Amino acid sequence: MTIYEPSLILDGMSSSNGSAGRLSLYLILVLVISAFTLAILVLPYDTVYVQDRAYLDWFLAVMIVCFAVFVLGTVSNALVWMRGKGLVGTPESRLMRTVARALSVIFSRKIVRLTSVFLREALYITKLRELSMLRWFAHFMILGGFLLMFALDIFVTLSLDIFGWETMISEDGWAKLLVRDFAFEIAGLMMLVGLTMALTRKFVVRPKQHSTEGADAASLVFLFLIVVGGFVLEGMGMAGSISGHEGNELYSFVGYAFSLVMPGSAGDYYDQAWLVHAVMSALLIAFIPFSKLFHMLVTPVVIQLEMLLGQEGGAL
Ligand code: HEM
Repeated sequence: MTIYEPSLILDGMSSSNGSAGRLSLYLILVLVISAFTLAILVLPYDTVYVQDRAYLDWFLAVMIVCFAVFVLGTVSNALVWMRGKGLVGTPESRLMRTVARALSVIFSRKIVRLTSVFLREALYITKLRELSMLRWFAHFMILGGFLLMFALDIFVTLSLDIFGWETMISEDGWAKLLVRDFAFEIAGLMMLVGLTMALTRKFVVRPKQHSTEGADAASLVFLFLIVVGGFVLEGMGMAGSISGHEGNELYSFVGYAFSLVMPGSAGDYYDQAWLVHAVMSALLIAFIPFSKLFHMLVTPVVIQLEMLLGQEGGAL
């Protein structure tokens, strides 16, 4: 799918400042990755889940590497889009200009409209709806569950790590039960249902015609293993009665179902299972730019940004 239209680019970037653009881009990349690393090293990042700090440190180290791979992969994808015929300047300098214009939209009031249109475009996808209601529903559950979990994650991280919100921490706090237990469970369940449907279609039904717009099998399997791993982890915590997991049967009902088939000793390996789950999700982030997931997430954003900038008399 084409998400970058060369004819929309304005001429005017002289090739003589191409190497300066290239240098600036790579300097910015180094700065972004260094800032992320610094934030992880400096912030008093903590977790209410894992007991042994060494596991957390290992995860943070892997996360830094995966973030760097994600950024470099994303930029190399973007540079491929920037290679249009008959354009002036290097792809790097065009990318810099595109990012600057995109940021001017993101840090303006237009971000509200951009977000709402993105959600509508990404979740509603009329074309897929007309093709098959089942495929549309599976896609809605996967992306909807993922976005919900992402939003919840930001909210919980802020309230736990930054604000130390007691009702989010204490065992019977309403925010802990309704957000950390129940809302996360719903997001995870949505993904589990959608992924099971998509994988059944790919590996059991095996339709003759594969749409080029669907996610590739590797991304789906990867995501499925992470989601199942999350529920297994929750089940281990409940089976082993680890603190924060007692009395959660009602709110963490899927994790509870998993805990029923686990011995109490499963709780002894909770930290190790946490590391596997966390590292797998970090690896997924690194894998995104190299998978079709990237195009599924980025396409609606780029289309909307182009429309918004087009209305102002310019384009990306
Ligand atoms: C692609 C990213 C991820 C996905 C799709 C995912 C999915 C899930 C799911 C479905 C669950 C079980 C139900 C629930 O409570 O939501 C879960 C649990 C959990 N996840 Fe993740 N997860 C991701 C990333 C992470 C990361 C990066 C960490 C830690 C750094 C993490 C830590 C946990 C923990 C601690 C639990 C269990 C909570 C408990 O014991 O009750 N997850 N995850």
